[in-house]
Amino acid sequence: MFKERCVIEENKKIAPGHYSIRLRSSKISKKSKPGQFVQVLCSDSYEPLLPRPFSFLDVDKNSFSFLYQVVGKGTKILSALKRGDEVSILGPLGQGFSLKNAKSIVLVGGGVGIPPLYHWAKECVTKLKVSAKNIHVFLGARDKSLLLCEKEFKKLGVHFYAATDNGSRGHKGFVTELVGEHLDRTTSVGGKNSAPDVVRMYTCGPTPMLKAVSALAKKYDVSCEVSVEVPMACGFGACLGCAIKVKKDDGHRFAIACCEGPVFQAKEILWD
Ligand code: FES
Repeated sequence: MFKERCVIEENKKIAPGHYSIRLRSSKISKKSKPGQFVQVLCSDSYEPLLPRPFSFLDVDKNSFSFLYQVVGKGTKILSALKRGDEVSILGPLGQGFSLKNAKSIVLVGGGVGIPPLYHWAKECVTKLKVSAKNIHVFLGARDKSLLLCEKEFKKLGVHFYAATDNGSRGHKGFVTELVGEHLDRTTSVGGKNSAPDVVRMYTCGPTPMLKAVSALAKKYDVSCEVSVEVPMACGFGACLGCAIKVKKDDGHRFAIACCEGPVFQAKEILWD
């Protein structure tokens, strides 16, 4: 991991209340993996004091980007920064997504959980040589303006499915309803496919959605990786503020999400 002052190359609004920022750093971009994150100190003053975690959206040789939603003081300060300004960054941090044999990949995202899934889809298509035809992306949002990265996913050539609360794009209702129908058609448990696919799922977004996707993974006996969203004060295992409950033998233990995650196997996590 590196600690760097990174120059902003671009910081632009991409949806209501949502921004995309690109920063220069060849060190961080070369080492980053989909699902990992950076800790961003939004201001040089003591307010806000703590850095904020953001997962990578995209990387190239000399720069990386992430998406953020303006929700408080830190992200408001970040949204006002311009090209040429500098930000303190720590990263890359955490453990990202992994790929084992799979005939079909299913990505389920919502809100600011969508960017790491785009990064992962791009890596699967461009570096891991997974055919875009075997990648199914399901995004959920309140309305169509918040279906982040829709254009970018479509450009990759993957199958794209949307669900919105108000029906302004795609299915009206929960994205997990669409995912359930898809798993019914493609898995052996669903039983509607005579030659079922080996499916691997990946999900990132609001916790109720992660819980629902994990339940589907269990029901259809599909391997699933979940990127959890938890507050992270340090990002490298020092404050223990990001602990989540995971299974251990017949009981449980607390896992440090910033180091052991943020990506976990769905079957490991205890959601209660
Ligand atoms: Fe401090 Fe994980 S954020 S230990």
